[in-house]
Amino acid sequence: MTDPSQPSRPTEPAAGERLQKVLARAGIGSRRASEDLIVGGHVRVNGEVARLGRRVDVDHDLVEVDGAAVPVRPGLVYYLLNKPTGVVTTADDPQGRPTVVALVPDEPRVFPVGRLDVGTEGLLVLTNDGELAHRLTHPSFGVDKEYLAHVAGSPSRSAVRRLREGVELDDGPTAPARATLVAPGLVRITIHEGRNRQVRRMCDAIGHPVERLVRTRIGPIADRRLKPGTWRMLTGDEVLALERAAVARPRTPAPADTGRGPGRPGARRSRQT
Ligand code: URA
Repeated sequence: MTDPSQPSRPTEPAAGERLQKVLARAGIGSRRASEDLIVGGHVRVNGEVARLGRRVDVDHDLVEVDGAAVPVRPGLVYYLLNKPTGVVTTADDPQGRPTVVALVPDEPRVFPVGRLDVGTEGLLVLTNDGELAHRLTHPSFGVDKEYLAHVAGSPSRSAVRRLREGVELDDGPTAPARATLVAPGLVRITIHEGRNRQVRRMCDAIGHPVERLVRTRIGPIADRRLKPGTWRMLTGDEVLALERAAVARPRTPAPADTGRGPGRPGARRSRQT
């Protein structure tokens, strides 16, 4: 059995960067804390428990902490934007409207993870980490997204129950959701499907059209203090938490699933720029 506190075997690569340095740079913790994680057996490289002294090639090796892939390639960035209304969730808008990409630094080039309608406000992740983005948006992973919907009128308890149980939309019934009336006319709703204009259509279906829609949480990521139109970097812990959310057990089988979903295990991490 591998003892992570023992030095690397001579067969392990002598080139590359020290694992604790790579983990620290990815924001997992100080080098010392990263060493403790290695010694504690929490870190795997290409599926094998890593030992102290392990070196890794960040372009090829898959590094995981407690089963969650760690973004170890330098140059990967993760922004959390509070999208204001009137801004489109694309890199380029043919109609010349302001875009979310224009609200964050130009370099390196990033793209939005998923989509908010032009009229929707709230949290949006932008990154150049194509693999994480893919898994966060892939329906089979069903990462939760929470919204506050200000709706016309005030839904009854049975109307809110319909949101919870699923409503019939023109592209099929919605999956069970979490929905609560937090104040008259204000519904907190959590979905994991990410269908086009889903919350608006669900609220239309119960007869209470959305007047204002704000996304307040993406999986484990929330931030009440981030002002509309501003952004911040996600911390290493937040990126890791997102990775964990995106390796959660798929709720519906995906055709290409190989056990860990569309991000192939051991696959080289792709960087989109
Ligand atoms: N649901 C919607 O209706 N719109 C969004 O922007 C996001 C979720």
